[in-house]
Parts: sequence; structure tokens; C-alpha cells
Amino acid sequence: MSKVVNFSIDGKNCMAERGQYILDAARANNIYIPTLCNLPGVKPRGSCRICNVKVNGKLMTSCTTPVAEGMQVENNTEELLDLRKAIVELLFVEGNHYCPFCEKSGNCELQALAYRFNIMVPRYPYQFPDRDIEASSKNLIKDHNRCILCKRCIRAIKDEEGRNIFAFKRRGHKVVINVDSKISGSLNDELAQKAMDICPVGALIKKEQGFIIPIGKRTYDKHPIGYEFDVTSTETL
Ligand code: FES
Repeated sequence: MSKVVNFSIDGKNCMAERGQYILDAARANNIYIPTLCNLPGVKPRGSCRICNVKVNGKLMTSCTTPVAEGMQVENNTEELLDLRKAIVELLFVEGNHYCPFCEKSGNCELQALAYRFNIMVPRYPYQFPDRDIEASSKNLIKDHNRCILCKRCIRAIKDEEGRNIFAFKRRGHKVVINVDSKISGSLNDELAQKAMDICPVGALIKKEQGFIIPIGKRTYDKHPIGYEFDVTSTETL
């Protein structure tokens, strides 16, 4: 069986390796599909749904759906762009995202997507939930106001024995990210920094540092998220 799969995105012929996820194949073909929970090199979970595309007319998460021969993928359509925009708006109203005083401002993927989608005011009412900021860990602040439950930290931060340091605590709408108390000692400064870096928002902040990269010089200060991909695949809303 051939290792190469032929498929199309918005009518553009693309090639992928057999078994490759649509999202990764799109990027290999220089086509941008927005993401929040996906992290290259880490098994995808499909939790944020920002990467939704239509495959043969059906909504699928591109980060968890492998490419198949002859597949027709819709990505840059008005319907999908509005769906993704709506998800970003929902994330903003569901938590408390006060960008102007967030240490992650300019490096935040949620904020960057809001700019990319030209979100001025969400179409949904703000919920203003009452959530904690936890600072009991020696090197990390957990701000539950900003967590979007993407599970990146759960999936990517492990101790030396490969055990997850982060986990979900509680259930339903009360679920929060938590550091496993039994192995919290494994969360050294390097892992705390990694947790902060991979968090797509400002929910995990390493203690005792701030503004090491000044405002104006951060990842998305000069370029919108996804700018490195083909501009002809860039959505307009
Ligand atoms: Fe695919 Fe989050 S990036 S569901």
C-alpha cells in the first residue's frame, strides 16, 4: 500500500503520509488550521474543537482525524470560520480573561486567535465565574480564571518516571487543573517554565519572574497567529 495519500483542502490538491492527521498534513502543505489544545509531538485529544473542519460534509476535529485517500476537506469556509470564532468567544465569556494585566499577553494563543478573528465584543454574555488563583506551589501560580482545560499540561509535563504531574480535579463545570500532591516535588523550575510556555493562555505562570520579554516583543505582538502559513489560505471574517 502506498505511503502517500492524496486529498484536498478547499479544493487544493494535497499530499500526506498515510496515518498523518489532517491538521499536520495541512501544515505540511502550508495551510493554516487554527488550534488551541494541540501541541506538536504530544498525542492529540481533540478537546478545544477550534480545529474543526468538514470532511466529506461532516464536522471533524482535524487534529485527531487521519487523512484518507480522496478525502475532501473544507477549512476556510464562512461557516467554519464563524464556528471557530464562536468557540473563542465562548472561551472568553466562560472564564475571566483580563488580557491587559496578564503576564501571558502577547504570548497567549487565545488572545492571538481573538485578534485574528477580529473579535471586538463576544456575542455571548460574560459569566464572570468566581474562581481561585492558587499560589501554594513553590514555583508556579495556577490561575483558574484563565484555564481553558486544554489538557496540554496534563499531557506534556511528566516526572522522571513518566508520570503525569498535572491532572484534573473535580467534575463537570467545577473541574480544575491540579498538581498531583504526591509528586508535586518533581515540578522543578525547568518543568514549571515548560508548563508556562506550553499553556496556550495565562493559567500557569512561573513564580518570581515577569516581563522578561517586554510587551511589544512577544510572539504575537508583531505577527498574527498562523502568519507563517500561505496567505491565500488565510481566512477573512
Ligand atoms: Fe483540535 Fe483542539 S486543536 S480539538
